[in-house]
Amino acid sequence: MAGSSISRVVAAVMDHVDAARGRDPATAGASTVEILATWPGVQAVLAYRLAHRLKAREVPLLPLGISWASRSITGIEIHPGARIGSGFFIDHGSGVVIGETAEIGENVTLYQGVTLGGTGFQAGKRHPTVEDNVTIGSGAKLLGPVTVGHGAKVGANTVVVEDVPPCSTVVGNPGHPVKVEGRKVEGPDADWIHLPDPLQDAVKILSARIKELEKQVAELSGREDPENGDPDTTPRKGRSSAGG
Ligand SMILES: CC(C)(COP(=O)(O)OP(=O)(O)OC[C@H]1O[C@@H](n2cnc3c(N)ncnc32)[C@H](O)[C@@H]1OP(=O)(O)O)[C@@H](O)C(=O)NCCC(=O)NCCS
Repeated sequence: MAGSSISRVVAAVMDHVDAARGRDPATAGASTVEILATWPGVQAVLAYRLAHRLKAREVPLLPLGISWASRSITGIEIHPGARIGSGFFIDHGSGVVIGETAEIGENVTLYQGVTLGGTGFQAGKRHPTVEDNVTIGSGAKLLGPVTVGHGAKVGANTVVVEDVPPCSTVVGNPGHPVKVEGRKVEGPDADWIHLPDPLQDAVKILSARIKELEKQVAELSGREDPENGDPDTTPRKGRSSAGG
C-alpha cells in the first residue's frame, strides 16, 4: 500500500521533470536533483499537485497555505482547485496566475507572465479551459471561461477573450487566429483593404431593382424612360456651396 503510494508520487515527480527536459533546452546537462531544486515551474506544479489532493480530501487551510508558500518562493500562483493534466510545464514561471476553475489538459506549456483568469466578480466556471498540447506564450492573458482548442499556440502578450480554434495560432489584442492547421488565415483578418461591405452590396441591389421598375413604369405609361432622357446639365443658380 505504502509502496504503491511512493511509486505514484515518484511517477508524478518524474512526469514533470520529463516535461521540463522535453521542452526546456536549458535542462540539457542538468540532473534530476538540479531540476527539482532550481526549476520554479516544476516546483510550483509539484506543490499544486499536493495542494490539489489535500483540497480534494477537504483538508482545511493546508491547500491554500501550500499555494501561498509556493507562490512566495516561485512567483507562480496556482489555485488548488484548478484541474491540471499530466505533462504540464511552466517555463521560467514568474508572474503566472492560474485561477480556481481553470482546466488544463495534457502536455500543456506555459511561459512566464501567463494569466488564466476571470473577467470580473462572477461565481461558477469563470476561468479558461485549455485543451491538450497547447502552448501559451509569455505575458498572454486568457480571460473568462473561454476554450483554447487542442494543439493551439497563443502568441506572447496575446489577450484571449474568445474561444481559440484547435491547431491554430492566435496573436494580438484581442487575440485573433493568424494560422489554422499550419496555413495562414485568409479573409477579413488577413486582407484589411478588401473588407466585405454588406450595406453597400444591398444598396447596389436595390438601386438596380429601382432602375428596372422605372423602366417598366415608363414602358407601361408610354413616357420616356428617365434613364434615356437627356440629363439636365444646366448649372444651378444660387449661392455658391463654396461659401465666401
Ligand atoms: C505565436 C508563436 C507561438 C509562433 O507561432 P507560429 O504558428 O509558428 O506562427 P508564426 O511565427 O508563423 O507567426 C504567424 C504570424 O503571427 C505573427 N506573430 C507571431 N507571434 C506574435 C506575437 N506574439 N504577437 C503578435 N504577432 C505575432 C508573426 O509575425 C506572423 O505574422 P505574418 O503572418 O504577418 O508574418 C510565437 O511567435 C510566440 O509568440 N511564442 C511564444 C514564445 C515565448 O513566449 N517565449 C518566451 C521565452 S522566455
